[in-house]
Amino acid sequence: MIEGGIDIHSHILPHTDDGAVDWEDTAFLASEAASQGFRHIIATPHFSRKADPSSLLEKYANLVQKGLLWRIPVRFSLGQEIRYFEEMADWLDQGKALTLAGSRYVLTEFSPEDSFTAILRGIRQLALRGYLPVVAHAERYGCLYEKGRLEEVIRGGGYIQVNYTSLEGLLRPEVRWCRRQLLEGRVHFLGTDMHRKDYRPPRTLEAQRWIEKKGGEKLLRRLMIENPRCILENRILKQ
Ligand SMILES: [Fe+2]
Repeated sequence: MIEGGIDIHSHILPHTDDGAVDWEDTAFLASEAASQGFRHIIATPHFSRKADPSSLLEKYANLVQKGLLWRIPVRFSLGQEIRYFEEMADWLDQGKALTLAGSRYVLTEFSPEDSFTAILRGIRQLALRGYLPVVAHAERYGCLYEKGRLEEVIRGGGYIQVNYTSLEGLLRPEVRWCRRQLLEGRVHFLGTDMHRKDYRPPRTLEAQRWIEKKGGEKLLRRLMIENPRCILENRILKQ
């Protein structure tokens, strides 16, 4: 386990989406992540057209306050996980949808049924508008499993995020796929995608051990600390 990890995908903000149900849940998730080496968590509640970003900002300010009281050694930033839609860049431009930690990076998800053409088009569209789209849990989109497609998304301006838990075990096809993409350098970010104490709490230690064993500590540091730091500092990560 290494210390100083930055998590770029979490549903730790309470009363917001299907993530943390209350502040107690939030505190549990934060301390669990801290015990696995994380020192910074970007809260990324699901975007909804009906939600008002000002209420998110209020909850986020509360989170920062409570975080200090809890004495858990984790800092927080705010973002959103946004399911791609046509006018997404307009909403981002207008501040009605949030980028990651105020940077140009946007955590973008698609529907598992979306075609490869639709995903590629969405990524290119966001990149053309000056955003740095990060494909959330890329392992969920079967159309990306075909040879050469992930490379195409990356060439189109996309960054690839996979979930830590998708690197665990050996039997599931998505695990084999994620492990291969990671070792061949096509994964830029990892995320816990933590939700609640009783549903997808942060679980990263097995994945951390596997990365360290197969790729060395340097690779683990790059994925857990150095690459996500580019988001916090709004620097372009070389693809
Ligand atoms: Fe998520």
